Amino acid sequence: MIVNGLILAISGTVLAAVVPINKVPVARAFDRSNALYANWPSYDELPLDKSYPSKAAWGVWGADDELGALNHITNETILAAAAEVKLGQAIPLNLRLGLPDPPANPSRKPLLHLFQPGPGYSDDVITLNTQISTQYDGLRHFPYSTNNSIDTYQWYNNLIADYNDVIGPAPSEVLGIQVAAEKGIALRGILLDWARWMDSQDAPFDAFSARSITVRELDAVAAWQGLCGNWSRPGDFLVIRTGWVRQYQTLNQTGRALLPIGDGFSVGMESSEDSLRWLWDKKLSLVGADNPAFESTPFNMTIDGEARSLHQVFIGGWGQSIVEFLDLEKLAPLLHQLKRSTFFVTIQNLNVVSGIASPPNAMAIV
Ligand SMILES: *[C@@H]1O[C@H](CO)[C@@H](O)[C@H](O)[C@H]1NC(C)=O
Ligand SMILES: *[C@@H]1O[C@H](CO)[C@@H](O)[C@H](O)[C@H]1NC(C)=O
Ligand SMILES: *[C@@H]1O[C@H](CO)[C@@H](O)[C@H](O)[C@H]1NC(C)=O
Ligand SMILES: *[C@@H]1O[C@H](CO)[C@@H](O)[C@H](O)[C@H]1NC(C)=O
Ligand SMILES: *[C@@H]1O[C@H](CO)[C@@H](O)[C@H](O)[C@H]1NC(C)=O
Repeated sequence: MIVNGLILAISGTVLAAVVPINKVPVARAFDRSNALYANWPSYDELPLDKSYPSKAAWGVWGADDELGALNHITNETILAAAAEVKLGQAIPLNLRLGLPDPPANPSRKPLLHLFQPGPGYSDDVITLNTQISTQYDGLRHFPYSTNNSIDTYQWYNNLIADYNDVIGPAPSEVLGIQVAAEKGIALRGILLDWARWMDSQDAPFDAFSARSITVRELDAVAAWQGLCGNWSRPGDFLVIRTGWVRQYQTLNQTGRALLPIGDGFSVGMESSEDSLRWLWDKKLSLVGADNPAFESTPFNMTIDGEARSLHQVFIGGWGQSIVEFLDLEKLAPLLHQLKRSTFFVTIQNLNVVSGIASPPNAMAIV
């Protein structure tokens, strides 16, 4: 989500091809037939080729790969995740599709819901900006760019050369949300309830401020929840509860209309190299949170002196999607009561060819 005022501003313009498509060389032998991680590069080894953007993981899963971090999901990780189903209680994690209302970013139109009556039946029609509610950011959502200008856009594995192939009248299909829709996303979720941890220490915070959550804090949250040692497993979906949705739910309609987060401020993971390194080592399939952008906003990170965001590195660099505005307000208390941090979760994106993002239709089962 976030900062796509830019895209709106230039849509409608005919854009020239800017980045030549070069096959991404697989600079380092990455043997997938053997153990999945036999040649897994360390964070310091990224990028595999100096010509790639900073900390990109291009080539790690192969030059033509479109799945990115979803490659961490295997039959084995799904079978292991299924062991998290202990009570048989299913908890959907999606906000109502019209929430937040109005959209947190004022450049985005609210959900349009129309009815089409027929003889003896009724249809309805929805027009949805996929960024307004609980959402799964696909790999077309965020290119790398040094100055937010299309002149510097680069998508995952350099598989898209021309911005028209994303937003033009005849978009290409590569990296579309259909890839994630057809993969089959079932995995182990792991909740770090940062908001509850803050409450436990009587540490008040404003979720509508640029409060950055550090990896030091997240490790402390994990320890507080009783997780120890290497508490994550490859393929996990890491979910952080920031308290944003909780605070949003306390606002009346006037407060919601006034909420200044469009170009504004929200709590989230610190946008930093510490965060990147910590996350890369965990080999996660997905990250998510109950806030607008997973990372805190506004975006203000630099890597190697260039403006970057976690969005750019995750989506454009690692091929790792982000799930935002998750509703964790039923799941989190239940897990706390059960003294658990992990759960089984499935995600079914809309199967829209060339799509950019989707409601995740996320459901936890504990
Ligand atoms: C998962 O199992 C199916 C059926 O046995 C098999 O066809 C497929 O290749 C397996 N996938 C992976 C990633 O191992
Ligand atoms: C962004 O950077 C590119 C490459 O350096 C440059 O060609 C372009 O003019 C810049 N655009 C803006 C809006 O600064
Ligand atoms: C980025 O935001 C964080 C959190 O608000 C702040 O501590 C830091 O000073 C900011 N850095 C820059 C370069 O603006
Ligand atoms: C924990 O993870 C680190 C980094 O991946 C690894 O080096 C270490 O061997 C792991 N320890 C255990 C006990 O698995
Ligand atoms: C709604 O919330 C605002 C603060 O955001 C408050 O000033 C106002 O009194 C509230 N209105 C009602 C009807 O409760």
